[in-house]
Amino acid sequence: MCGIVGYIGYKQAYPVVIKGLKRLEYRGYDSSGVALLNDNKLNVYKKKGRVSELEELMIGKDVSATVGIGHTRWATHGEPSDRNAHPHQSASGRLAMIHNGIIENYAPIKQELLKKGYEFKSETDTEVLLNFIEDIQINNQCSLEEALRIALKRITGAYCILLLDKEDPETIIAARKGSPLVIGIGKGEHFLASDASPFIEYTKEVVYVNDYELAIVKPEELVLKNLGNEKITPFVQELDMELAAIEKGGYDHFMLKEIFEQPSTIFDCLRGRLDAAAGTITMSGIEENIIQLVNAQRILIVACGTSWHAGLVAEYIIEELCRIPVEVEYASEFRYRNPIINPGDVIIAISQSGETADTLVALEKAKENGAFIFGVVNAVGSSIARISHAGAYTHAGPEIGVASTKAFTGQLAVLMMMALKIAKAKATISDERYLMLLSELASVPEKIELILSRSEEMSAIAEKYLDASDFLFLGRGYNFPVALEGALKLKEISYIHAEGYPAAEMKHGPIALVDSSLPVVFIATNDVYHEKIISNMQEIKARKGQIISIITDGDDVTPSLSDDYFSIPAIDEVIAPILSVVPLQLLSYYVGTMKGIDVDKPRNLAKSVTVE
Ligand code: AGP
Repeated sequence: MCGIVGYIGYKQAYPVVIKGLKRLEYRGYDSSGVALLNDNKLNVYKKKGRVSELEELMIGKDVSATVGIGHTRWATHGEPSDRNAHPHQSASGRLAMIHNGIIENYAPIKQELLKKGYEFKSETDTEVLLNFIEDIQINNQCSLEEALRIALKRITGAYCILLLDKEDPETIIAARKGSPLVIGIGKGEHFLASDASPFIEYTKEVVYVNDYELAIVKPEELVLKNLGNEKITPFVQELDMELAAIEKGGYDHFMLKEIFEQPSTIFDCLRGRLDAAAGTITMSGIEENIIQLVNAQRILIVACGTSWHAGLVAEYIIEELCRIPVEVEYASEFRYRNPIINPGDVIIAISQSGETADTLVALEKAKENGAFIFGVVNAVGSSIARISHAGAYTHAGPEIGVASTKAFTGQLAVLMMMALKIAKAKATISDERYLMLLSELASVPEKIELILSRSEEMSAIAEKYLDASDFLFLGRGYNFPVALEGALKLKEISYIHAEGYPAAEMKHGPIALVDSSLPVVFIATNDVYHEKIISNMQEIKARKGQIISIITDGDDVTPSLSDDYFSIPAIDEVIAPILSVVPLQLLSYYVGTMKGIDVDKPRNLAKSVTVE
């Protein structure tokens, strides 16, 4: 996954592009670069490292131009380096291009070009594609746009590309398949980017480019075409994302801001949908497909990472409330197995970014096999949202921190409403329990607020266990996936090894790890498993393990077994994961920051894994 920015208009392009690249650094930041086109002068500057290092390189350079493209990279082909950074220039030096995605058949194309005498400055698939385009244009004596169309028909893989031609300083040509591209519509100017954050302060009028579409962009004109060279009418949408939603809003990190946003993001997610007083849940994506959902023989949930954990929570809830068999699949495994997909199967795809390559390809495969796909996605207009037959957005707003927090609780809220609607339609839930759970779900924003008001307690706990080299997270039932999520949060932003397990599973191996140096986090909120959890805690205590427990307000048993504990407001066990995860998010945030780690951009990770 990489970040793409382009500008064409009457302003100086460089300030717009470089600021946009900083907004997109969460998408990849191992190198960056810009190409600036002024009259017939094309300058390319690029550098390994963060965008700030590119800025230093730019000091004193000729940046006068009203057309520019910029790129932040997360390496796929070729290690992070100056020469592998984008933009790339064609052999003649006439073309410059940036690319987000993977050209899967670049190797044979490169061989063809090498035989023709082409030389390559980088190890990237992007440079191969660029020279392939130029070679086609030279041999076919055609326009650059036509050469691009021909090339795109011959490649396989994913791409979002922006292309400049030194001989046409009035145009940016763009194309996408499998990697996001949104165009901002200005007056006498246009903006192009991987998402809207680079240009949100300039315009809220946007066009999402679809797969297999080309955009020919001039200061005053945007033309969309398909690969068959047929014009497409751009569908202009009004963005509801504010710039403030992008900035850190006074918090030290996006991650902390996003943890503290959860009362409002859950409120936004429920707004217009859940009316506890009226006992209704309104979700058109479900209502319009309720027959399909009610009659589902099986529900397959496909996702990655934290979204996969949300799927596990949904499995417990849907099976309990709706009595429909649920299987939760890692998308990366599902896409390469030969999975059995029957008509009547419903696939729920869960994704914050809506661009995760493994999830996207798994869905394409399932769709080919006739499955009905329901997307639970955060990024509006994203690829997974658009490949789904129906769906529901989590409305968590842009999640900039690499570690997913508010998107996770938003996913849970949507999935809980979905399960309740299906159970109600199937009459597999009593009216009394249905109304009680609606009321519990409606109380979540204020209960998260209460948890966050005591965040300093988690900071103190974090400080105490900062130097541990390993953690165990244990939970049962609905809280077992929360244990997995707590472990993932800790390891991905503090680099401390952590594992999540069903608490009872501990006796089948992990208990061998227990000694006085091992902190064990129990999610021990009041539910049907509580007595069993207490037994598990006693087993850990007997082996000198250190116990941190997440308990329910008023629990006066568990604290006596705990070295440290944090209590959350009482709530029904079905809804509890939305609350019990919050202290674990805080724990990982405080441990990571106390260890001096940039928790918004942890090493080796990127926010959206748009390559496999
Ligand atoms: C979670 O904190 C990670 N950033 C990662 O596991 C993420 O959940 C996963 O890559 C899936 O991303 P998606 O939800 O955008 O599809």
